Amino acid sequence: MKVLILNGPNLNLLGTREPEVYGRLTLADIEAQVRARAEELKLEVDFRQSNIEGELVTWIQEAKGKYQAIIINAAAYTHTSVALRDAISAVGVPTIEIHLSNIHAREEFRHTSLIAPVCKGQICGFGAKSYILGLEASVYVNLSLK
Ligand code: DQA
Repeated sequence: MKVLILNGPNLNLLGTREPEVYGRLTLADIEAQVRARAEELKLEVDFRQSNIEGELVTWIQEAKGKYQAIIINAAAYTHTSVALRDAISAVGVPTIEIHLSNIHAREEFRHTSLIAPVCKGQICGFGAKSYILGLEASVYVNLSLK
């Protein structure tokens, strides 16, 4: 099973970016943890980051037929991007929304996710472990929620 893991804007700054909110792990550290768990679960993962909305849209479009699940931390685009929502809805690849922080416990503008209604579910608030839980959920959605 192949899983595409997408990271949105500013997540390349993890490690130094607001560590009190996002922790001290870099995105490369998180990727290493994800790859270790993926190996245990026998999953093949592609792990990408972009600051460009259109690039994320293109990667979602290209996922159709190639990946059995998408895990996305859309970062700030979570709260603004109709384009990402439409792409997820269009390709029909089961998608899991993840966030490091608990977006519902933060500023009001973060409480709304435009992509949540077209995702299988949302995992937020567990720091880097949100990625691991997302990976486990990607197996689950392929087993039982098809
Ligand atoms: C985030 C939460 C978003 O609100 C924020 O814009 C981010 C990171 C998270 O992982 O907690 O950039 O997606």
